[in-house]
Amino acid sequence: MRVLGIDTSCDETGVAVYDTDRGLLGDRLYSQIATHAEYGGVVPELASRDHVRKLAPMVRQLLAELELAPAELDGVAYTAGPGLVGALLVGAAFARGYAMALDRPSIAVHHMEGHLLAPLLEPDPPSFPFLALLVSGGHSLLVEVAALGSYRVVGDTLDDAVGEAFDKTAKLLGLAYPGGPALAALAEEGDRDRFPFPRPMTDRPGLDFSFSGLKTHTLNRWHETEQTDRDRADIAAGFQAAVVDTLAIKCRRALRASGFRRLVVAGGVGANRLLRARLKALGAEEGVAVHYPRLAYCTDNGAMIALAGALRLAEAADDATIHARPRWSLDQLTPPAA
Ligand code: KG4
Ligand code: ZN
Repeated sequence: MRVLGIDTSCDETGVAVYDTDRGLLGDRLYSQIATHAEYGGVVPELASRDHVRKLAPMVRQLLAELELAPAELDGVAYTAGPGLVGALLVGAAFARGYAMALDRPSIAVHHMEGHLLAPLLEPDPPSFPFLALLVSGGHSLLVEVAALGSYRVVGDTLDDAVGEAFDKTAKLLGLAYPGGPALAALAEEGDRDRFPFPRPMTDRPGLDFSFSGLKTHTLNRWHETEQTDRDRADIAAGFQAAVVDTLAIKCRRALRASGFRRLVVAGGVGANRLLRARLKALGAEEGVAVHYPRLAYCTDNGAMIALAGALRLAEAADDATIHARPRWSLDQLTPPAA
């Protein structure tokens, strides 16, 4: 079975085709970074309009590249949420219409389920159950994954998501949007011990996160310095070390509480080098296998949506409903119908 996957949840247009026998056949991604850069953040209306321009040609190009006729698709999966509602609606309406024209089912996929299943695209996929750390621009979640569709969110952020904290902190330090990767690159040159940063909420039990305090801490340190390149790099390094330590402490706790022997790390911040190294070391210490998607599938992409859609093809609805849910908890998902 072949499923076309579409992600338009935020500022990237992602399309892909997944084959249940042969795996991922191909994918394409268009990033809107240049569109939003001058505003210092994602402008929702511009994001929607750009998805409108890019989506249909990208699907056509991908199918041409794969030498697939639309009729060779068995279903069309799309991100139905969470995300920017206008952006979601572009993908949802296109996918529903395209599926209807082909007389195939459409599948409404949860974006974070896509992220947490992304490591299944790799040659050595994790088996269930596993603990998932999902760290993106909109979410910071620890999830006990018992099976496909059986998710228990055990940790969540009380304020900023990790990627959001990276982006906002980068902005405070004068780095261009999107700041997360730039801040991470700068941090690699800095001295992480020069400015002590707190490890928020690690001194009390529980698995929730709070990252907005680190942002304020950064701003205060920045104003105390002469704001040289050196100061900027050292503060970035202190910030990144604090975030990574905090995530590692909570992962260790959640692994011990669940007893799971596998950890999956996904979402845009899963591309962070220090985080990957730290969690790999944690896995070795705890006797836990750590799985990541490749870097291109950590950030938003169509491949993870095509995969999740293929796994849920059996339950695909044939009604005409177009699903777009800006807010949608992973806890509400259920295993696919047999
Ligand atoms: O999963 P994603 O592509 O989009 C959302 O669903 O949010 O995640 C994007 C987030 C952004 O906040 C970005 O700054 C962050 O991931 N990010 C990073 C790195 N690469 C991307 N944060 C820290 N270090 C990185 N290397
Ligand atoms: Zn995402």
